[in-house]
Amino acid sequence: MNISIASDHAGFEQKQALRDYLIERGHAVADRGPDSDDRVDYPDFAALVARDVSEGKADAGVLVCGTGIGMAVAANKIHGIRAVNCINVQFAELAREHNNANVVTLSGRFVELDENKRILDAFLSTGFGGGRHAGRVEKIMALEG
Ligand code: RB5
Repeated sequence: MNISIASDHAGFEQKQALRDYLIERGHAVADRGPDSDDRVDYPDFAALVARDVSEGKADAGVLVCGTGIGMAVAANKIHGIRAVNCINVQFAELAREHNNANVVTLSGRFVELDENKRILDAFLSTGFGGGRHAGRVEKIMALEG
């Protein structure tokens, strides 16, 4: 898959490791920064990844900040984005199955790297369930106007 990834300073270390992990797994990865753990503002990086997904340049987006919460709030401001903050594997599976999420946001401070790798694997390998969930997702997207 084509994956766009970014972080803020709080997620930088895990972003580097998760980027390398995704490349090892055979994905094409666009690293949208930052290049150091200098303090930055997470909305700037959320926007870069969310726009890659929104414009079809990436199949999925990955964002890492301290909690994952700010990244999700910011990414969801971009047209076509369904960003979910996942703190365990089940959240990632359900976010794909029920919500057809296209961006996953992760916590670099409260979730260990190995667990975030498992969350990422689940997010990228689980398909949308469709059926009764399809109309609900359509209703979410209709809220964008
Ligand atoms: C940065 O200190 C922190 O606020 C940020 O990484 C994130 O957790 C925001 O939601």
